Amino acid sequence: METKKLLLDMDTGVDDALAIAYAIGCGAEIVGVTCGFGNVETHEAVRNTLDLLALLGRPEVPVSAGDAGPGGQPFQVSEACRKIHGQNGIGNVSLPHRGEPSPIPAHRFILEQCEKEGAALTLVCTGTLHNLARAVRESRETVAKAGGIVLMGGALTVEGNVTPYAEANIANDPEAAKFVFESGLPLTMVGLDVTLKQRLTHETVRGWAVRGEAGKAYAALAGYYIDHESDRGSCALHDPLAAAAAIEPGLLDTHPFAMTVLTEGEGRGRTVARSFPEECGVRNVSAALEADPGFAGKLDRVLQGLFARLDRKGGE
Ligand code: BDR
Ligand code: CA
Repeated sequence: METKKLLLDMDTGVDDALAIAYAIGCGAEIVGVTCGFGNVETHEAVRNTLDLLALLGRPEVPVSAGDAGPGGQPFQVSEACRKIHGQNGIGNVSLPHRGEPSPIPAHRFILEQCEKEGAALTLVCTGTLHNLARAVRESRETVAKAGGIVLMGGALTVEGNVTPYAEANIANDPEAAKFVFESGLPLTMVGLDVTLKQRLTHETVRGWAVRGEAGKAYAALAGYYIDHESDRGSCALHDPLAAAAAIEPGLLDTHPFAMTVLTEGEGRGRTVARSFPEECGVRNVSAALEADPGFAGKLDRVLQGLFARLDRKGGE
């Protein structure tokens, strides 16, 4: 498989951490990680990202911080999120703090990389679309140079996970999401429609715990998430599926829609497809309606391989 260049944009909680490990494990080149608010505050997402990249043997990957919240206001992380992802966002697993963020703001870093890498680059957004919206507002033309944009967010055919209608990443900044969806830029939407069906179990993560420092930490943070994300004895692989789809688009069955995001009333944060011809703008959103049911097994193999390689390297 050709090496993919990815720019990850995230609110680094547990499933974002799994997405980083999956991308590294697949041999993707991560040109940088831009961080924002959502599962945690922006500065916590930055710290988690720096610590995880160091743990995974990639301390050189640049990490940039975005705004502290939408509309110039600081973001308040919900109690539900603190419970699901742990107080620190990574299942209360304590990692040594390593590295410093880049002084370049997240949206500027996105623009720089789109300009530099062009079609070779795929943007993978697994938090709000705030940083991407800022980049598009500054230069849509530059963002359009990227080869693709894959986002984890939204719910088209299923209920939301923070309200009956809205999924968390969209609900945390609906205005930014609406702007990006209506920008006409080609987007691949990996929503709850497909991510809720990809499940990770305790049985799987137990196998990681014996594979060195990184395996042990990941077993602990994923184990915490399994216990707190739902009461099903397994957790959804939201963000890793989006990263995987950027690397291997064939994992998804998608359908093109013209879409928007509701910003008012009880439907605030709902992702809506305009299906009537007179309402249809550009069908720029390829929404995933099915995904490879074998993805959780694949993730396990990729992560086991990565942790084993890191363990061997650490022992040399
Ligand atoms: C999404 O919201 C966040 O809690 C997760 O990291 C994921 O990106 C799931 O709705
Ligand atoms: Ca996320």
